[in-house]
Amino acid sequence: MRIGMLTGGGDCPGLNAVIRAVVRKGILHYDDEFIGFMQGWRGVLDDVTMPLTLETTSGILHRGGTILKSSRTNVKKIPGGFEQCLKVIQNEKLDALIALGGDDTQSISLELAKRGVNCVGVPKTIDNDLSGTDACFGFDTAVTIATEAVDRLHSTTESHSRVQVVEVMGRDAGWIAVTAGIAGGADVVLAPEKEIDIDEVVRLVKARFASSKKFAIVVVAEGAQFAHIEGQLTTGDKKDSFGHARLSGIGQALAEEIEKRTGLETRSVNLGHTQRGGTPTAYDRMLATRYGIAAIDLVHAGKFGQLVVLKGTTISSIPIADAIAATRTVGEEYFDVIKGLQPKK
Ligand code: F6P
Repeated sequence: MRIGMLTGGGDCPGLNAVIRAVVRKGILHYDDEFIGFMQGWRGVLDDVTMPLTLETTSGILHRGGTILKSSRTNVKKIPGGFEQCLKVIQNEKLDALIALGGDDTQSISLELAKRGVNCVGVPKTIDNDLSGTDACFGFDTAVTIATEAVDRLHSTTESHSRVQVVEVMGRDAGWIAVTAGIAGGADVVLAPEKEIDIDEVVRLVKARFASSKKFAIVVVAEGAQFAHIEGQLTTGDKKDSFGHARLSGIGQALAEEIEKRTGLETRSVNLGHTQRGGTPTAYDRMLATRYGIAAIDLVHAGKFGQLVVLKGTTISSIPIADAIAATRTVGEEYFDVIKGLQPKK
């Protein structure tokens, strides 16, 4: 078969591991031929490709980012965009298309599938919030980086008897904040799933300072919102082509509020894209490789319109439409863990 592959949306560690696994199994076991579209759906629209061979995908397993580059190109917003994609897919004589991406990328796959393209999806989002799968590769790496940052911030925060706010990624779901917050032993963890109760934050910070430890660490997801202020904090009015605002600033705003209400010196740091950069953890390389193998097997089983997913310890697949229907948010049991570690009200 002749198969196209692309990576869309925000990048994350492990994309190259998926690409390598798809290509290796496809060439070594199925005699496939591959092309990679550059910069996500932009590469399909403009027919910009690179050859994907055993050679071009060698030595990339441990490399962060994506050799195919990525973009947030929304085909739905481009007049005649789907027709153009179909023309390119036909001209390239593709039998199937494998798209690595989150809900935005997969929503384009779904439209193309409805138009007869043999699409298979691989779930990718650093936020780990795609429903239907228990885990997305890249998340473990992001959490490892965020946890290390929280660990490192402990000593300097303690030296200065400060409050340190750490802003992490997580637009609609607080998986990174909750996991790194618990793993790093943060005193307060705030996620988009629950509005920020500033009085409660102040109570917890004061309780920490009333203990033998005269410092406090607060982890907050970029998408968390104050109960008393409308909406998420953004860097401006800029939106990407899928309509998502560029989130940033909740950490700084929270730090100012804590300092104002407690009189304690408070600093904030935004870990930002550091969480998405660099080499993937072993867990992410493993998961990404399993997803890649499953994706090429799905293509050869003729199971199109499907997304590979992890359920428990097993890789299976679900319809793309089901995967993008809802956001997988952090469940109450995780918030109970956080509460269980904090002093009672
Ligand atoms: O969608 C995943 C994500 O990492 C979000 O957590 C974040 O808001 C966004 O991407 C930032 O992406 P970029 O700045 O690369 O567009």
